[in-house]
Amino acid sequence: MSTALAQHVVHPELWESVPADWDEVFGRVAPLAVELGFGNGEFIATLARERPDWNLLGFEISLSCVDRAAHRLARQGASHVRLGLVDGRFGLRELVPDGGAWAVYVHFPCPWPKARHAGRRLFDATFVGTLSSVLVTGGEVRLVTDVRAYAEEAAAEMERTGCFEVEGPEPLLDTGPDTRYELKWRRQGRPIWRVTARAMRSLPVHRIAGGEMPHARVEGRVDWDSVTRLDGLSERASHGGFTVREAYTADHGASALVRTFTTDEGFQQQFFVLVAHARKGTLVKLDGGTLPFRTPNVKRAVAAIAEALEEAA
Ligand SMILES: C[S@@+](CC[C@H](N)C(=O)[O-])C[C@H]1O[C@@H](n2cnc3c(N)ncnc32)[C@H](O)[C@@H]1O
Repeated sequence: MSTALAQHVVHPELWESVPADWDEVFGRVAPLAVELGFGNGEFIATLARERPDWNLLGFEISLSCVDRAAHRLARQGASHVRLGLVDGRFGLRELVPDGGAWAVYVHFPCPWPKARHAGRRLFDATFVGTLSSVLVTGGEVRLVTDVRAYAEEAAAEMERTGCFEVEGPEPLLDTGPDTRYELKWRRQGRPIWRVTARAMRSLPVHRIAGGEMPHARVEGRVDWDSVTRLDGLSERASHGGFTVREAYTADHGASALVRTFTTDEGFQQQFFVLVAHARKGTLVKLDGGTLPFRTPNVKRAVAAIAEALEEAA
């Protein structure tokens, strides 16, 4: 891992308790601002210069973006910025406590213009509810986009909750910090729109991550053939489910790894479950190399794998 990544990138899936105490993570008490989908990090780096007295947090789903932004921040010496390779929707809800953020910024989210993809747009009722809850009273949401219809829809979604004072969409003047997408669209002559909203009330939010590291013990030594037969094991629940795809023996036959996929309320993860012979019986637990967030379906997958192996024993 490069020094830039070590300095700036956090791994909240390893943390025992979430939402996190961000003052503890940053090592100082300061207002927290969050950017979702920071791309190459131009905005968060500019904000870091303008707000040395704030703690800044970014969530991105692209590893190369995290890498580029971390290097930018390291060159700048911005020690008060942390980045997470985490779905912003999930990260904001699960990792930021109620009233924990002073500002949330979103620049050029994917607009998903086709009607059949409308469900993928970021500013839906659940996300807007999360914004209302994680922002302090008076805290700000700022959305910047080149798609006016998207800006209007997001503004309307926030208005609908009765939790925000919303301004815009209004044209955003060309005053920087010139994110990659802002430059791209301005060069093509597109107008850029901004929506600003102040959180005045909050809605309750339902969080699903955290809790104990799931593990189970199976009586006796399971044989690796029964682990291989787990391929295809799956369960569906109303908020998601899990599927096992492939199992491999590892560690010269001392253990096996079971590749598992989960979905919890649209949040997808993939990881390995480790099956290992122990002094008493067989242990089933999350493999340390691919730790997921401990969501209900991650916990259920570990338990179900142990149950299936117990039945086969
Ligand atoms: C159009 S780009 C904009 C990047 C940057 N904000 C800019 O203005 O140049 C959208 C970015 O959002 C990221 N993204 C998409 N869905 C996301 C999600 N659920 N959570 C966090 N980032 C996401 C993408 O990886 C991509 O970097």
